Amino acid sequence: MTEFNLEQDAQLQDVQREHQKYVVELGDWRRTHSCGQLSLKDNGQMVCLMGWVQYRRDHGGLIFVDLRDREGLTQVVFSPDIAPDAHKYAHILRSEYVLAVKGRVRPRPEGMLNTNMPTGEVEVVVLEWRLLNTSKTPPFPIEDRTDAGENLRLAWRYLDLRRPRMQANLRLRHKVAQTARRFLDEQGFIEVETPVLTKSTPEGARDFLVPSRLNIGEFYALPQSPQLFKQLLMVAGMERYFQIVRCFRDEDLRADRQPEFTQVDLEMSFVDEDQVMTVAEGLISRVFRDVMHTDLPTPFPRMTWDEAMDRYGVDKPDTRFGLELKDITSIVRNSSFKLFASATLVKAMKVPGGESLSRKEIDGFTDFVKIYGAQGLAWIKIKENEWQSPIAKFLSESERAAIAEALQLNVGDIVFFQAGEPAIVNAALGNLRVHLGEHLKLIPEHTFNFLWVTDFPLYEYDDEEKRYVACHHPFTSPAPGHLDLMLSDPSSARARAYDMVLNGCEVGGGSIRIHSGEVQRRMFRALGFSDDQAEHQFGFLLKALDQGAPPHGGLAFGLDRLVMLLSSSSSIRDVIAFPKTQKATCLMTEAPSTVSAKQLRELGLRLREQPAPEGK
Ligand code: AMO
Repeated sequence: MTEFNLEQDAQLQDVQREHQKYVVELGDWRRTHSCGQLSLKDNGQMVCLMGWVQYRRDHGGLIFVDLRDREGLTQVVFSPDIAPDAHKYAHILRSEYVLAVKGRVRPRPEGMLNTNMPTGEVEVVVLEWRLLNTSKTPPFPIEDRTDAGENLRLAWRYLDLRRPRMQANLRLRHKVAQTARRFLDEQGFIEVETPVLTKSTPEGARDFLVPSRLNIGEFYALPQSPQLFKQLLMVAGMERYFQIVRCFRDEDLRADRQPEFTQVDLEMSFVDEDQVMTVAEGLISRVFRDVMHTDLPTPFPRMTWDEAMDRYGVDKPDTRFGLELKDITSIVRNSSFKLFASATLVKAMKVPGGESLSRKEIDGFTDFVKIYGAQGLAWIKIKENEWQSPIAKFLSESERAAIAEALQLNVGDIVFFQAGEPAIVNAALGNLRVHLGEHLKLIPEHTFNFLWVTDFPLYEYDDEEKRYVACHHPFTSPAPGHLDLMLSDPSSARARAYDMVLNGCEVGGGSIRIHSGEVQRRMFRALGFSDDQAEHQFGFLLKALDQGAPPHGGLAFGLDRLVMLLSSSSSIRDVIAFPKTQKATCLMTEAPSTVSAKQLRELGLRLREQPAPEGK
């Protein structure tokens, strides 16, 4: 983080205050070019540029300024010989001062060319300039290579956004959104806005609630997605809807999650899975063609959820590298190694050449899998004459032979094992696989591997709530023939749901919906709702489904996630103009914040606990 030197800073601020007297209005000056535009072909032209001072360098009487605007940098020169009046006060210019210059383009002298800069062959000799504003010393330099910590950047987000990298990210986001909008318009989709103050739309997270002043004691929920409204638009006969829409979810945040985020949301009537998936692939291919200038092969590969879990341990596999998991439960079923023999599931992952991993690295992986509920991590190194491992002695000759055969083991490999409940075994090994892929640098850069994951379970068991919950959302249609399983054997019911995965990240998800009121009522029953509860919470939907709802389905892309991957950003925050921190706060505006007693009173609310006097 950049440290302030308070004394020096105070002096600088005094200087800046002094410089305020040079500030003038823009007046009738008009910009003729951007700072990223000029080249040798403009030699001799009079131009007017406006922007921010990136650097000032004084060299033997000449003063050089790199002037920056959103399009790039141009070197401007103040020369005491050519324009003494313009040169006279140029020494006052400081980083981030706002400047307008008029001058003439000329080639840079021999030896002063900068081939790293698009405008690096020319400079502008300043004949006249206007100081449009001064700036306090920024808390960090406005450059891509910054050592400023993220919290400092977020507190001064408007300065952070001046950095070229952030500008490029927001532009990329704009282009993706515009391309998606154009594509969907061409395909006959109609953009409809849906309410933000609404009723709970469950997508598996907590709702953000908004108290109603006019209806004391009642609350709106901010939508977790426009799911119900888009379905109602199908009942309304819109047939093809889309929206680029803000969604709100009060959930624990990670590098790829924000409490408010944007979906490219769509819904279609009279379609099956293939038609929705084809539109979604078309949209993504168009984005790649127009924005990334890459042709993507379509259709994207598909994999069932069962296969994804079996081979990769997760429902969003990163298929850019190997290290697949192998189920060896049947091999060790009767082993004298009780840990393996008694486990519901035993899986192994071979890391070719991994024998050289150090004890310290392996200890690190063991700590890593504990995040996913694993007790520990068993491993075996395949040496020339032995299997080196704390567990090797528990395995019989025949078990070793069968494992070697199943995993195609070679000398120099290491194998990691997990045994236990399937959910933990898969999560631990599946996530370790990705971790190892990064650790061992197995993941090729600049590769975009798309994959559809299909045939999801309809439900998953929630241990905390001790009931089944919808794997996607409760409006997802069961697979053909699985209607009866909804109540008789929920764990084996499959859904007409599909997720689009890019490089191991879920960038979109959707399904064919339940369009029969009867089936929807059955779904609520399966989820443990009484008919009265279902009616109370979703009566409006049930009523609508009884009014000639057409078969329909759709999907939503996570726009932020997509742009994060396209821009090779490591955090979703880098592609959102004003994001929230991991603690869901905005460091710039300091939201959320306390409200006045009057506001609370008007809303009929009283806090049970008073906030600490110093605030957050
Ligand atoms: P789902 O919940 O899968 O589906 O969301 C769709 C996509 O939105 C993105 N996403 C998020 N991005 C950032 N931060 C978050 N907190 C976050 N949560 C989700 C993901 C995800 O794939 N109504 C359904 C869609 C449908 O069925 O049509 C829905 O919202 O990229």
